[in-house]
Amino acid sequence: MAKNLVLYFSVYGTAKKTAEEIARQTGADLVEIEPVTPYDSDRSHYNALARLAKKEHSRKRGILVAPEDGFACSAQV
Ligand SMILES: Cc1cc2nc3c(=O)[nH]c(=O)nc-3n(C[C@H](O)[C@H](O)[C@H](O)COP(=O)(O)O)c2cc1C
Repeated sequence: MAKNLVLYFSVYGTAKKTAEEIARQTGADLVEIEPVTPYDSDRSHYNALARLAKKEHSRKRGILVAPEDGFACSAQV
């Protein structure tokens, strides 16, 4: 296993592409943080997603997980 980790969160794929490139260039492991309930990645639903995210953040409970083996965790956001 590599020593470095690129941990990323991406809804529409921009951060994903960047994270993949950084991991490729540095040889780091790559793990995606995912919401427990997947986010709607249809850009035309952005306002509804932003409202949902705001609500989740205000609840201060774990909503994000990195599901790879060895990285199972949840984050307080
Ligand atoms: C629910 C949600 C809320 C966001 N809120 C902000 C914000 O407050 N300010 C901001 O600059 N970008 C915000 N963004 C944009 C993200 O930071 C990012 O630029 C965008 O999702 C593109 O990255 P991605 O393709 O990897 O998802 C938000 C995106 C989502 C999905």
